Amino acid sequence: MTRIAVIPGDGVGAEVMGPTLRLLQTMNVSVGLGLVFDSFDFGAERYLKTGVALPAGQLETFREDYDAILLGAVGDARIPDGAHARELLLGLRFGLDLYINFRPCRLYAESLCPLKGKHAEQIDFVVFRENTEGQYNGIGGFLKSQTGDEVAISTEVNTRKGVERLVRAAFAWARRKGKRRVALGDKSNAIPAHQLWRRVFQEVAAEYPELEARHLYVDNLALQLVQRPESFEVIVTTNLFGDILTDLGAALVGGLGLGASANLNPDSTPLFEPVHGSAPDLVGQGRVNPMAMFLTAGLMLEELGHGAQAARLERAVARAILQGQVTPDLGGSLSTTEVTEAVLGHLEAPG
Ligand code: NAD
Ligand code: IPM
Ligand code: MN
Repeated sequence: MTRIAVIPGDGVGAEVMGPTLRLLQTMNVSVGLGLVFDSFDFGAERYLKTGVALPAGQLETFREDYDAILLGAVGDARIPDGAHARELLLGLRFGLDLYINFRPCRLYAESLCPLKGKHAEQIDFVVFRENTEGQYNGIGGFLKSQTGDEVAISTEVNTRKGVERLVRAAFAWARRKGKRRVALGDKSNAIPAHQLWRRVFQEVAAEYPELEARHLYVDNLALQLVQRPESFEVIVTTNLFGDILTDLGAALVGGLGLGASANLNPDSTPLFEPVHGSAPDLVGQGRVNPMAMFLTAGLMLEELGHGAQAARLERAVARAILQGQVTPDLGGSLSTTEVTEAVLGHLEAPG
């Protein structure tokens, strides 16, 4: 039995989670995956009632009793500073020590790419985003708050161990998957602390002579991603840069409706969530794209050892895309439910 903790969350989170559980249940029954789902009502509503986003003891429960966490999205206009989203999302990432944020960007159909003349097979890269350090650690604060002399401080932390384990994960994955290139994006010209990234990257790269290791300043990397996305296979970068580059990456392949992500540590309970947020502008319209969440569920299946089922799910999504069975964000006119039915249909198709 494999236990999955399900957190639909806020906004469109619940709207993409329902359809995803439908797909997963279908596969669960037809193949006998042994998945068991427990739902958790963490999100804005509960936070507004209790003042708590991630209850005490929950991390231990997830760590000890669950094989994976599947999360929709969090974010609510009633909590404008995003406090509950930070407490929950960063609480899970940091608390479970999920140091790899794995975010693939793959172009399924040429028509989805905003760049001219890019073929589907030309955009297929993965971002390894550092996920437990950087500027996301909460160290800092405000001096002389709300005065004309206010100073807002945010400290970036990069530890040798933290950087090295992420860089190692990226190279090891590249080797395992037969990739040829790994690129590092940092800002060591302006932020001396990032020299740690360059040093570690060089050291680890030396252990992988078959892989081309390329260092780029992250501003140039962003430029190159748009001008020559085909030159990237694996990108390794800091927490904040990875956040930004993966929205950019999603934009290259159709938008946030297709951005999947996995928060990983081989020794912990992984967390799977799409790249997108609660999309307040789409809530309640029945037309949010559920595919990012489907592909995220695919990453979960792969991680749980069901690689064939993960591939089957991705293939079903790709077929729906190629047949134009998509929501408005991808240029179609189908509803979330209609897209779900289409993907379900492709799931049953042979091969
Ligand atoms: P967002 O990702 O929610 O939306 C950005 C844009 O992309 C919007 O125009 C939205 O309509 C579109 N979009 C997003 N997902 C889509 C989908 N599945 N189908 C079609 N279109 C989609 O980002 P935002 O507007 O900056 O943030 C909204 C809230 O979500 C904020 O509170 C933010 O903090 C939070 N957020 C949460 C997560 C998360 O839970 N992992 C991630 C990002 C943002
Ligand atoms: C993401 C989101 C989060 C992040 C926010 C909601 C804290 O943008 O998962 O990409 O910055 O990591
Ligand atoms: Mn983001």
